[in-house]
Amino acid sequence: MTAKSLKVASPDNGPTAERAYRTDRGTMIYGKIEDALVTPHLQDHKGKVNLIVTSPPFPLVRKKRYGNETGEAYLQWLEALATPLTELLTDDGSIVIEIGNAWEEGAPIMSTLPLEALLAFKRAAKLNLCQHVICHNPARLPSPAAWVNLKRARLKDSFTHVWWMSKAQFPKADNRRVLNPYSKDMKKLLERQSYNAGTRPSGHVISKTGFLTDHGGSIGPNVLDLTGEHYPDSLLKYTGTGWDAGYRSYCKENVLPAHPARMQSSLSAFFIQFLTDENDLVLDPFGGSNTTGSVAESLNRRWIAVEADRDYVDGSRGRFPGLALNGSNESAG
Ligand SMILES: C[S@@+](CC[C@H](N)C(=O)[O-])C[C@H]1O[C@@H](n2cnc3c(N)ncnc32)[C@H](O)[C@@H]1O
Repeated sequence: MTAKSLKVASPDNGPTAERAYRTDRGTMIYGKIEDALVTPHLQDHKGKVNLIVTSPPFPLVRKKRYGNETGEAYLQWLEALATPLTELLTDDGSIVIEIGNAWEEGAPIMSTLPLEALLAFKRAAKLNLCQHVICHNPARLPSPAAWVNLKRARLKDSFTHVWWMSKAQFPKADNRRVLNPYSKDMKKLLERQSYNAGTRPSGHVISKTGFLTDHGGSIGPNVLDLTGEHYPDSLLKYTGTGWDAGYRSYCKENVLPAHPARMQSSLSAFFIQFLTDENDLVLDPFGGSNTTGSVAESLNRRWIAVEADRDYVDGSRGRFPGLALNGSNESAG
């Protein structure tokens, strides 16, 4: 998620949450999450959602016309959503929230608001922080431009934070589902079946056989490389820009705005594969272009997404071949 401005339905034009379309495995709800939470669309799934994966709208330093909440109001708004969203989770479910870095208006100073909002959210719903994951995207263009390109006074901002939280200490999770390919050296070692055992300068004792079993790949680090260079082979189709290609042309053809702050499909795919089984239920309360729903569908998970902006909802149909604009609300066929 980048710090671009996002539209939010204003209170007086707020729709009641309604189903916009349905696919084989999921449902897109048009409306604000606050409204959707009190409708059967979500109430019927209380205690049944295995994973919430989302990038919330960004806190703006200055309020835009139809813009996001700012400062303290943003914090309170996100905090108020913590408990009702957590109530939707299964006992072993997880919430994965992606939040990028934010900068103060007109100064090369980072805002702590995203962190404060996250802490308020975690505290309100008494969630455990399972792990803080950094999503590194070295291909990102230099920003904030004023301080990085022009003044040359800051480094390029190239990662987002992913906060993985849960009710339980051991939510459903299996890192064997998201193994990275072995390095060339490790592959050679596995072929050779011998290496330099003994005590390392760090004090680690490396046994004679400990590294000789082929586990199908190496356990990934908590810094996720979204370029695909160090990324599970099984999920490579979600890296790069390919996953969004059909969506972008659909928006163009139908004169709809392409969502300016889409989640990387590789990020969504990684956590869905890591934290859920096939047929599990995945929710994105701030669905945007419905990256999460489309990835979940392709990984054979059920999904629900909620999005407050009509144009983004309409554009998101382009992620499901077979769903025409203004067509049936009922099925992708
Ligand atoms: C960062 S974007 C999510 C992008 C999405 N992950 C994707 O890949 O396209 C946040 C989205 O939340 C939507 N939004 C803002 N306030 C909302 C609310 N109260 N309820 C539901 N959606 C909201 C915005 O319109 C925006 O599309």
